[in-house]
Amino acid sequence: MGVTSLLAIACSLVLTARGQSPTFSRTSSGDGRCMYSFTVPSPAEERCSEPGEALRAVRELQRERAAQRGELESMGQRLRLLEGRLGGREDAETGKLRADKADLLRRLQAAEQENARLRDGRCPGHRDSARDSQQLARGGRQDFFNVPSRKRAPSGREASKWNFESTGYQELKSEIITEIPASKLAPQSESGGTSQSPDCGMLEWVGEPVTFQKADSIVGRYGVWMKDPEPVPPHSTEHIWRINTVGTDIRQLYEYQDLDQFMKGHTSKVYLLPEPVESTGATVYRGSLYYQKRKSRTLLRFEMKSETILVRKDLANAGYRGVFPYSWGGYTDIDFAVDELGLWVIYSTSQAYGAIVISKLDPSTLEVEQTWATAIRKRAVANSFIICGVLYTINSYSNQNAVINFAYNTNTNSSKALAIQFENRYRYNSMVDYNPAEKKILAWDNFNMVMYDIKLTKM
Ligand SMILES: *[C@@H]1O[C@H](CO)[C@@H](O)[C@H](O)[C@H]1NC(C)=O
Repeated sequence: MGVTSLLAIACSLVLTARGQSPTFSRTSSGDGRCMYSFTVPSPAEERCSEPGEALRAVRELQRERAAQRGELESMGQRLRLLEGRLGGREDAETGKLRADKADLLRRLQAAEQENARLRDGRCPGHRDSARDSQQLARGGRQDFFNVPSRKRAPSGREASKWNFESTGYQELKSEIITEIPASKLAPQSESGGTSQSPDCGMLEWVGEPVTFQKADSIVGRYGVWMKDPEPVPPHSTEHIWRINTVGTDIRQLYEYQDLDQFMKGHTSKVYLLPEPVESTGATVYRGSLYYQKRKSRTLLRFEMKSETILVRKDLANAGYRGVFPYSWGGYTDIDFAVDELGLWVIYSTSQAYGAIVISKLDPSTLEVEQTWATAIRKRAVANSFIICGVLYTINSYSNQNAVINFAYNTNTNSSKALAIQFENRYRYNSMVDYNPAEKKILAWDNFNMVMYDIKLTKM
């Protein structure tokens, strides 16, 4: 498909998205570029002092929100289609198209935020950032091991902004609260979440995502953030690493002293990797970053202390560069994982007809110790991770009500269908990893670095 028709897709995407709310418009900048305008009409009310007035504003917001949701849905779909067509092409003309796409993405992101604001029923004049910073504040350092496991109902502070006592508001408030699916509420935890016990078990429940950081540029739409479950000096379990993975030559590995610094965006060190990174499959384990070299099936072990690549090893028959990716694409063909048992790699081969293959690796040599072939088609799942030698797959990267739908147990070579709720809050989850030291799931969902509580039952 030629560039001209690609451009036509980009433009028609905007034209067909023109609805009542929000509105889009396109103008040509003269050099053939599309200029997009994305307008989210703001309800007329400036203040929310009067109960009746506020109630009207809130109902308006609810209506707008419903309308917006549909628009965003179809826009997102078309954007993904466009992304698929762009594929790996990188010349001057696709570059221009990419810039357009990036612009559109930013606007979509802005609309998402607006939508979140509407959903939370905030006063129209109330400029936000509140949502994320509140979440960040809540997840302070001592909360790292004890992240809030319930979605908060609108807080008293927020509610008081509306400043009214009418029964109308009560109705509305309960409407907002009933949007929290009952299944998301945590079963009572007797342990208090101290994560002391190394006890293994089967995954039973995943909590709400808690946001710790948000990338501020397009290069951070996808990425990977990691902690080392078995650190070696000079690193500790406090350290956090991050790689933004949008781009063609990804070599920067950012290091943060602790969660506090990570949340503030203060890096303590930036490593320049000798080989570029492919996608979001990397992991940190025992002082090394394990990652897939760009456009290859080569696995690399980069030791952070010496800042050198200690081991390079081709993963036999592994598909790469979009042959067997996860459903969201992004060249997620080869995915490292770490659990209580050690280092793994999740991939597929043509011998396995695209089904997920799991290999246990020797972390010092990257030799394959043992391999399991599952019956789960890799392209059909959004992501996967391993806990206690059991592989879990997620059915969607974009659905907010996704499900962990399948488990493959390497201890017994058996598989099992599951239906564990998993929320993709920001609707584009590009990385999901388990951390056995924290007993948490770390993920990168559409610019946002999030963490999930989990609950295991005895195997
Ligand atoms: C499971 O499969 C692996 C790899 O094919 C094999 O080595 C192992 O013996 C099997 N284990 C059981 C319990 O069947």
